[in-house]
Amino acid sequence: MSHTPHRLLVTGGAGFIGANFVHYWLREHPDARVVVLDALTYAGNRANLDPVRHHPGLRFVHGDIRDTALAAALLREEALDTLVHFAAESHVDRSIQGPDAFIDTNVNGTHSLLKAARQVWLEEGRTPAHRFHHVSTDEVYGSLGPTDPAFSETTPYAPNSPYAASKAASDHLVRAYHHTYGLAVTTSNCSNNYGPYHFPEKLIPLTLVNLLDGKPAPVYGNGRNIRDWLYVEDHCRGIARVLVQGRTGETYNIGGNNEWANIDIVRHLCELIDRSFAADPALRARFPHAAPAQGQPSAGLIRFVQDRPGHDRRYAIDATRIRRELGFAPQETFATGMAKTLAWYLAHEDWWRAVMDGRYRQWVTQHYAPAGA
Ligand code: NAD
Ligand code: TYD
Repeated sequence: MSHTPHRLLVTGGAGFIGANFVHYWLREHPDARVVVLDALTYAGNRANLDPVRHHPGLRFVHGDIRDTALAAALLREEALDTLVHFAAESHVDRSIQGPDAFIDTNVNGTHSLLKAARQVWLEEGRTPAHRFHHVSTDEVYGSLGPTDPAFSETTPYAPNSPYAASKAASDHLVRAYHHTYGLAVTTSNCSNNYGPYHFPEKLIPLTLVNLLDGKPAPVYGNGRNIRDWLYVEDHCRGIARVLVQGRTGETYNIGGNNEWANIDIVRHLCELIDRSFAADPALRARFPHAAPAQGQPSAGLIRFVQDRPGHDRRYAIDATRIRRELGFAPQETFATGMAKTLAWYLAHEDWWRAVMDGRYRQWVTQHYAPAGA
């Protein structure tokens, strides 16, 4: 059954994918109401919503998804009919160093939202036509060998990191609220995203900003781990498709059919940066520490570092269902998406310098300590 979202609660809408989704949604639906609920943790940033700051349909609420009463009050007072749930602790490396926050936010936080939705939409019966869309990850399926078939919606869950396990638990809760209480839910499991507003602790933005500052680009282990990359706006378009046309109670995998080994991504970024500096001499003055500003190739900054514990070997998404049932296909190629991403980071230096504040630097010092330190 299709759903027509008019009034949305977007949790985590000040994070990387959530903010891109809010931009996309308000551009495509200028009359929509979008209430963003975000706790502004280290990865959340009010500035990510700057492009839509003055949109009359947008309301920003600084709050925690674990506050069930707050979520219920927003659903009620704003007469919201759709909840798109992005809010999460999202970084695998942080989940290895401190899993508790992942259980608190990803498991208990999701449950808190499900309780609020059940109360307002089912028990109070305020909005019979409702939709709870849960944004999840391909990491719930575990790790693939080199020749294994890609993850489909029927692949058994086998999460390996605390992050993946917390997302798997939240997926199960969403499913249970549909089967037990009849909440109208959909779930999407997406592969690795990249693009504007990506917090610079994940591989692609970290590599970009480090290379621009002439700092090492750390590659875990031998760099042969494989991820399936999707441009963030394509992910947002896929979510929108599921939100409107997806079958209630169903899950959809979203991916770009775009597998890359980490080392090849990092080498590709080095080449992109070198070419940009060759084409635009002004970049030498702006980024004087970058290798190409000193006549050196960026690839000289690649450093193989200690591997992540339990590092999943390969992720790949089989996106047949969303293509066949909902007619969804990504619009960007990896070449166009990466070029847009680099252009965005070059044009938004103020943004990434500002988000790399004291707490972030502390993380870098702690996480990338020399082996044996
Ligand atoms: P992100 O870390 O950039 O953003 C998460 C947002 O959630 C931040 O704005 C943060 O402030 C907010 N948040 C965290 N805890 C909160 C709480 N308790 N209450 C309210 N807000 C809270 O993450 P992202 O990369 O944008 O990921 C968004 C969602 O997409 C996550 O659920 C993630 O599991 C999923 N996902 C991400 C990827 C990816 O490649 N980044 C791929 C597939 C799925
Ligand atoms: P990441 O961006 O953290 O996403 P995820 O772990 O959710 O896939 O990492 C992507 C890949 O890049 C993963 O295989 C780990 C690797 N990686 C590095 O090699 N170096 C780094 O500094 C980081 C952050 C990640």
